Amino acid sequence: MRTRDIIASVIDRPSVFKSKEKLFPEYVPPELPHRERQLRELAQLFKSVIVNPGQISQRVLLTGNIGTGKTAAARVFGREIVSLARSRGISLEYVHINCHRDRTLYAVVSSIAKQIGMSVPNRGLSAYEIYSAILEYLEDENKYVIITLDEFDYFIETAGSDAVYFLIRTYDEFSEYTRRINFIFITRNTTALSRLDDATETYLLRNIIHFYPYTSDELYDILDSRRSLAFYEDTVPDEVLRYIAEIHGRDRGGEGNARAAIETLLVAGEAADAEGAPRITIEHVRKAYVKANPQITILYDRLITLQLHELLFLLAVVRTLKRSQQAYVRIGEVEEEYKYICEELGEKPRRHTQVYEYAMNLRKLDLIETKTSGRGYRGKSTLIGISMAPLDPLENRILDIIKRRIGEHKWRTRIT
Ligand SMILES: Nc1ncnc2c1ncn2[C@@H]1O[C@H](COP(=O)(O)OP(=O)(O)OP(=O)(O)O)[C@@H](O)[C@H]1O
Ligand SMILES: [Mg+2]
Repeated sequence: MRTRDIIASVIDRPSVFKSKEKLFPEYVPPELPHRERQLRELAQLFKSVIVNPGQISQRVLLTGNIGTGKTAAARVFGREIVSLARSRGISLEYVHINCHRDRTLYAVVSSIAKQIGMSVPNRGLSAYEIYSAILEYLEDENKYVIITLDEFDYFIETAGSDAVYFLIRTYDEFSEYTRRINFIFITRNTTALSRLDDATETYLLRNIIHFYPYTSDELYDILDSRRSLAFYEDTVPDEVLRYIAEIHGRDRGGEGNARAAIETLLVAGEAADAEGAPRITIEHVRKAYVKANPQITILYDRLITLQLHELLFLLAVVRTLKRSQQAYVRIGEVEEEYKYICEELGEKPRRHTQVYEYAMNLRKLDLIETKTSGRGYRGKSTLIGISMAPLDPLENRILDIIKRRIGEHKWRTRIT
């Protein structure tokens, strides 16, 4: 093929993505499933801004683990309350500052000034002067503002507690001004606040809204709500979403991190595109998962520590999964495959209870996942899945080790 044709064939290949940006971390979605309670709490706390503007200056702290929707909730809340306020004739601005980027007092106040549309002269004003100018501007324009200081711990660490005090407490002393500034602070945990003086710490801890890690059912709904935004119809089967949700769900040992779940879906889509596949499969998800978790090479090293029959059983899991093209298979089917492999190799298959032990041990080593069958399966049975690696390279790796164990010669005569 000519170079031009090679390039064109890739560029013109159809994609599963309709709008990939809808999966980027900075995209703010229209709805936030399973964050209704947090949004309601925010609305309750900021009600006064709409009902009695200028009466009090509200401060709220959002905390929770990585990827639990703190930033998204603040932005969605800001967007909605601003438009609600405007529809009632109140001029409210929402300002979002990432303190990871702007971590000095000067950077923060300059960013506030810029986001509310003030022009700050370039002639060396101090942070304090800019802050007073902001207060005056709000007063002159009769504006109110909700300022989110996201990743606030970076600000505490870099700017120090005096700067925190200045930003959020001094305001209380400007008694001649109406209360026009409100704050939302975001930190993953509250330990960073202990660097502040006791009074300020207590002050910040007064209104806390918690964001809990997502369960797999919740992640499923979150992924589902992104699917129609980002992908063409029929390119992402339900079982793919279910599988990703189960990898990341808190109740299944994951982090409950929505960002990671959405990223897995994005990378799985890219893997499907790279192969020119019409839709995403479970195997694409496995590939995506490995890309995002390069530490799985450690798991590969664990293979060497397994007994021969554990390896044979794991090989049986891989082969049964490959044949079924599902995320999980029943342990009974795996055992059949295991017996078949043993027979081929002239190895005596171990008894059922022993095989069950192998499964439990492999699970302990994080080489497989197990769960009990629920809806959609007849009878109760143990289901086995593998998400730690794409199956093809894993199978080759296992085969290499088995061959070394039993001798290449025996292998070749027994299994072809
Ligand atoms: N309930 C939800 N519905 C839809 N999307 C969500 C939800 N929660 C989180 N997300 C998405 O997941 C990603 C991570 O969320 P977000 O950035 O809000 O997490 P965070 O709590 O701020 O995490 P960090 O502590 O790492 O900053 C974003 O793309 C966000 O849009
Ligand atoms: Mg965040």
